[in-house]
Amino acid sequence: MALWSGRFVEGVDAFTQRFGASLPVDQRLYAQDIAGSKAHAAMLAAQGVIAAEDAEAIKAGLDGILADIEAGTFVFDINDEDIHMAIEGELTRRIGEAGARLHTGRSRNDQVATDTRLYAKQRAADLMTANVALREALIGQAEANFEVILPGYTHLQHAQPVLFSHHMLAYVAMLERDYTRLQAALDAADASPLGAAALAGTTYPLDRFATAEALGFAAPIANSLDAVSDRDFLLDLIYACSVSCLHLSRLCEELVLWSSSEFGFITLSDSYSTGSSIMPQKKNPDFAELIRGKSGRVVGDLVALMMTLKSLPLAYNKDLQEDKQGATDAADTLEDCYVCAAGMVATMTVNAEAMRAQAKKGYLAATDVADYLAKKGLPFRRAHEVVGHLVLLCDTRGCDLEDLTLADFQAESELFEADVMECLNLEAIVAARTTYGGTAHTQVRTQLEAAKNRLPH
Ligand code: ARG
Repeated sequence: MALWSGRFVEGVDAFTQRFGASLPVDQRLYAQDIAGSKAHAAMLAAQGVIAAEDAEAIKAGLDGILADIEAGTFVFDINDEDIHMAIEGELTRRIGEAGARLHTGRSRNDQVATDTRLYAKQRAADLMTANVALREALIGQAEANFEVILPGYTHLQHAQPVLFSHHMLAYVAMLERDYTRLQAALDAADASPLGAAALAGTTYPLDRFATAEALGFAAPIANSLDAVSDRDFLLDLIYACSVSCLHLSRLCEELVLWSSSEFGFITLSDSYSTGSSIMPQKKNPDFAELIRGKSGRVVGDLVALMMTLKSLPLAYNKDLQEDKQGATDAADTLEDCYVCAAGMVATMTVNAEAMRAQAKKGYLAATDVADYLAKKGLPFRRAHEVVGHLVLLCDTRGCDLEDLTLADFQAESELFEADVMECLNLEAIVAARTTYGGTAHTQVRTQLEAAKNRLPH
């Protein structure tokens, strides 16, 4: 029979027991559950609610259970329903009476909210560490290939040449924002529900500030109803995971494109590629595709919890038990994706020649030629039209702007002088974009150093 079975005559049947159990999902919260119980018991003793010897016995018993779970010798039983019952039940079997006093002034409602917040804080911190490792890999490639030029795209059409390092740093910028969002999710979880009890507080003289402090929370949550019913911190965590997964899906989409024969911009290492069971020549970017694909499930986790919370009345409802599956999945998935992406990026080969060859196609100097005329006083719209004519000329001749003669330029506008030829090469085009945040080497060098300085040391 369950720990709550006093007012019941019959037990639940095997199916409903399994249906109602959260143990398969929440057993991974064992360390948080034990930490919460130790803090609660110590506070009960300090407040004179239970005897000091009972608190000692509870602490020793819980430490023994923790050691057994970590050694893999603890046998979880689905009949225990959830991690709270499993640990409390075993504690009472081990230490008797004292164990049965642990739940004084506490409910599973504040208990589960406490465990889940401790877990969310831990996972947000883990993800921040993994986020930094991926940023380091991107920064490493940016440094190793600092001067490599590739075509920058808009509409997936060649637009203007950019430094490969600049392109990598755009992803670093996304990941820095993700790091900030993870920190915000950690902060949202950083308040203690413990002592809210079932929903209304308790009649015991609990010191909620003491348990909050013992568990490393910034403060106790001020409203007991809010304490047991709030899961916004999980939404924040899954949202942070979702946005970061979207960023990884964009990165991986580019890695998939870049590793195709059409681009050939990068070669993924063998350890981040797979072969085909039928086509012997194949080398597929499976892992980049998987990261791209997993982002869908993580966004699904966010929507799922939002829908679970929609219209839920105060305070605790069993619906809330559905909160942990998506949150653990989102955090696990993003962590794995960070690790995989970091390895993939760190080990990929950048094919500078292939990037350069593409950057030479598609009249990437066109904007610079128009700027050349505009700087000589021609209104930019007029200059745009003149260069449009030059591009048409190249199109008919099947050549690039670089292949035109000065006479060809001057036939379109007498403002052209010999120095126009200097703004046509890729290095000059890149180097000229010196606005703050632009792709000029000087700017990118500054941004690269700044990105390195923002890595936590
Ligand atoms: N297993 C539950 C959950 O994850 C714990 C809280 C249950 N509380 C209750 N009154 N049934 O939400």
